[in-house]
Order: sequence, then structure tokens, then C-alpha cells
Amino acid sequence: MKNDNYQLLVVHQVESGVQLVQLNRPEALNALTTELLAELSDVMDNAEVSDDIRVLVLTGNSKAFAAGADINEMAERDLVGMLNDPRQQYWQSITRFSKPVIAAINGYCLGGGCELAMHADILIAGRDAQFGQPEINLGIMPGAGGTQRLLRAVGKSLTMQMVLTGLPITAQQAKDAGLISEITQPELTVTRALSLASVIASKGSLAVRLAKESILKGMDTDLATGLRFERHAFTVLAGTDDRNEGIQAFKEKRRPKFTGR
Ligand code: CAA
Repeated sequence: MKNDNYQLLVVHQVESGVQLVQLNRPEALNALTTELLAELSDVMDNAEVSDDIRVLVLTGNSKAFAAGADINEMAERDLVGMLNDPRQQYWQSITRFSKPVIAAINGYCLGGGCELAMHADILIAGRDAQFGQPEINLGIMPGAGGTQRLLRAVGKSLTMQMVLTGLPITAQQAKDAGLISEITQPELTVTRALSLASVIASKGSLAVRLAKESILKGMDTDLATGLRFERHAFTVLAGTDDRNEGIQAFKEKRRPKFTGR
């Protein structure tokens, strides 16, 4: 089922629990305008509270996931414009989204596009994808997590190389460095992402949510704090119907029917 509320996104409810969101500014390689980010933020805010959506797949087209922030729009924004930039608020909706996001990436994944992809929990890419933070070529630097999330994903040396030279890396380099988890044939990237999404959507949604939160917490904190958070989350799940159902189904050698309760 397609949602026609958006101009710069194509949003499909693909199957039970999975929503596919396609960035749709092909004429500008899906460069991220304020309006596009506003629509994406709206999609995510709605998905956050929808019982019908358990996993979101984010993609672009065969040429570009997204080639960065829209440079023409950025050119019109002075210092005060930057300080009052409404896009900060839209990025927040993406950052705080509690359900899993899978990015299915083909073609250019640059600048703000790479930063958007790094907000996803699982990144898979077609063989032809290229990842980069080319802001340095414009006399600026990444401003939506490109120095921080990239550092945490691939380490200091490669982050420095990408950010300071502006040169892109291939999908294979991204996979070797841990930025993405799988490489696919370009025409199969979305199919594979939807298949992973479908597997995740079949699990207990409370366990999925707390597992995601625990992993993200671990990226931001020391081991002892992370382990404590994990233990608390694990303990909380002991009080859920889904945990009882999961264990009962195992004993009865049948598939569990999770209810998210
Ligand atoms: N913003 C606005 N328009 C863009 C764009 C961007 N980031 N990237 C591409 N486009 C537009 C081009 O201007 C072009 O439009 P016209 O046809 O109207 O001229 C169209 O998309 C197709 O692009 P190209 O003709 O350049 O395609 P190409 O295949 O020859 O080159 C490319 C592709 C190497 C990605 C090149 O387009 C490019 O270098 N784009 C800019 C990439 C970039 O610098 N991104 C970082 C932006 S800053 C940022 O993201 C800040 C942040 O951290 C938040």
C-alpha cells in the first residue's frame, strides 16, 4: 500500500510490519533538502507510534542513496541561518527512532547521505555503492555526525582519510571496515533489506527495541555501564508475554506467536 502524502519520498507498507521509504529526488541524486528531511522526520514520527510498523527500510535509487545535503540550499544559508537551522530538529526524529532501520544503499552515499545512512542500524549496499564525506572539497566539514558516527564505525585512520581527503571508498572497503554488514548485487539490495526486515518484524517487538537500545548505548558508554544497561533490559523482558511465549513455543517445538506485550 502506497502513502501519497509525500512529495520527495515514496512510502510503501510492503508487508506486515515493514515500511519501505524511498528518497525520491532523482534529478539531484537525492540531495537532502530541508523539505525532504522534514518529510522523512514526519514518516519516522508516524512510524514510531504505529503498531503496524516494526521495521523501516530506507533506500534511494540505483544511482544514489543520497549525494549529501543540498548544496544549493546550503549556499543560501548564512551563519544565523545555520544557527536557526530547522534541520537539526528533523535529524533528531531520525536519531531517536526506536525501531530498527535498515539502509539499502546503491550508488552515491556521500556527505549528509552517508550521515543519514549511518543513522540506520543495519547498512547493506550494492557492489557499486560508494561512501564518502566530501564536504572538505566545499571548504566545510561534516555536520550531521560524519566525524563522530564514522569514527565509531570504522576507526580513526579511515575516518581521517575520508574526511580530510574527501575521497570516497568502495562498498568492499566499507564492508572490510565495518561500515556496512553485507554487499549485494545492486538490483537485489532492496530485496535483501526487505528480507532482513521481515525476519526482524517476526520477532518480539519489545525484545527488538530493547536490544537495539542496548547496542546503541554500548557505542556511547564504557563497558561496565553498557553491561549494566544490558542486564536491566534483559531483566525487564522477563516480565513480558513474548518471553513466556518464546520459551513455551520452543518447548512445544512450534513457531512463537509474539504479540509485543
Ligand atoms: N546538492 C545539490 N545538488 C546536487 C548534489 C548536492 N549535494 N549532488 C548532485 N547534485 C545535482 C547536480 O548539481 C546535478 O544537477 P544538474 O543536473 O541540475 O546540474 C545532478 O545532481 C546530477 O549530478 P552530477 O551531474 O554532478 O552527476 P555526476 O554523476 O557527474 O557526479 C557526484 C555525481 C560526484 C555525486 C557529484 O554530483 C557531486 O560531487 N555532488 C556533490 C557531493 C557533495 O559534495 N556532497 C556533500 C554535500 S555537503 C553536506 O552533505 C553537508 C553535511 O554534512 C550535512
